[in-house]
Amino acid sequence: MKNANRSFWLMLVCLVATPVGAAEDLIGLYLTWRGDPTTTMTVNWVDIYEYSGDGVYFRAVRDDDRDEAWQHVEAAESTVGPTTLQLRRAELAGLEPGTLYEFCVGEKPDDAAHIWRFKTMPAKLDQPISFVAGGDMMHNRAMMDAMNAQMQKLNPDFAVLMGDLAYANDVVGSRWIDWLQSWKEYAVGDGKRLTPMVLAIGNHEVKKGYDGKIPEDAEYFYSLFSLPSDRSYFALDFGDYLSWIILDSGHTHDVAGKQTRWLQAALAERCDQQFLFAGYHFPAYGTTKAPKDGLPIDSPRAKAIQENWSPLFERYGVTAAFENDHHTFKRSHRLRGRQRDDENGILYLGDGAWGVVPREVPSPEVGWWLAKAESRNHLWHAELRPDGTATLEAVDPSGEKFDSVTLSAPRTKPVESAPAG
Ligand SMILES: [Fe+2]
Repeated sequence: MKNANRSFWLMLVCLVATPVGAAEDLIGLYLTWRGDPTTTMTVNWVDIYEYSGDGVYFRAVRDDDRDEAWQHVEAAESTVGPTTLQLRRAELAGLEPGTLYEFCVGEKPDDAAHIWRFKTMPAKLDQPISFVAGGDMMHNRAMMDAMNAQMQKLNPDFAVLMGDLAYANDVVGSRWIDWLQSWKEYAVGDGKRLTPMVLAIGNHEVKKGYDGKIPEDAEYFYSLFSLPSDRSYFALDFGDYLSWIILDSGHTHDVAGKQTRWLQAALAERCDQQFLFAGYHFPAYGTTKAPKDGLPIDSPRAKAIQENWSPLFERYGVTAAFENDHHTFKRSHRLRGRQRDDENGILYLGDGAWGVVPREVPSPEVGWWLAKAESRNHLWHAELRPDGTATLEAVDPSGEKFDSVTLSAPRTKPVESAPAG
């Protein structure tokens, strides 16, 4: 008994004495971007202890094994939503594009086991890059782990996660702990390189339902993720080859009005990008949640997106729009003005089934807008190539690639009509 007591206290002392930099004790460790993905990186960590290290040590990893001096950036201190969970965030800037860095949180690294890595995105698309995209991630931990494990095998450069992440409804903090732990375990690619994430908000990030909500109703989401422009709709530009436009499909900002006006300006500014993707939670061309006597594409929220955003996607020629929320797999026909138009239409890819129980899909006779739909968990995996072509594949939790679309020609840049007069 005496020995058992001694073992307990010895174990406790060891736990407390473990440097924060070990990171294995942290609840969460994740990378996001507030700024340019080619020259910045935000390192975030979540801990139960108030003393959780005051910053990040980092340095570039050189091919010739030359050791760079460690640099240090202090972390901002806050908490996760209304909880006492400690959140730390270090903004690293002035980095070199396309460069591998190693870093450690808390203590100055004295052991390779405490060191993690990240890679900045390249300034030019001179070799293929890849990302994964999806949403509706965690009905339960096992389902999220299974899809995350496939993501890990794909070793993407980054992940775009579009809402209904932890299903915490801005209330159940413990679900965020599970979500963060799963991400920390699996969002680790080759050589302990962490996978940065880009985030969109969904209805399950918000208290009590869909309509009339504001950012204060999504306290966990807004505290966990430092978003570009401090808003749930923003643009992220990767050199001159890629832009992501992330939108809030009416969860804390209205679809119409200010957000749509911003979208028009944001797309107009990015006409020359080689790849231009839009991503958001609720679908314009969904697969389930049909209103009474209607189709999924007839719901008021779907119509608001079709009327406000789709004409802009068409006008500025977005490469594809990623949609979620309906817990199915779908690839739309190319659509324009709510019609099939395989020449000039927009491709809508979804429908949010990362780690949730999939729903039934409409029959082909009913779902005229769907080129393919299945009741199946998946993520989208995209490879973008320097010649402007791309392959987008749907991958299920067993690793099977069950759908693929190849963009065999570079994106056609929209032709703006000449100003009147
Ligand atoms: Fe949703």
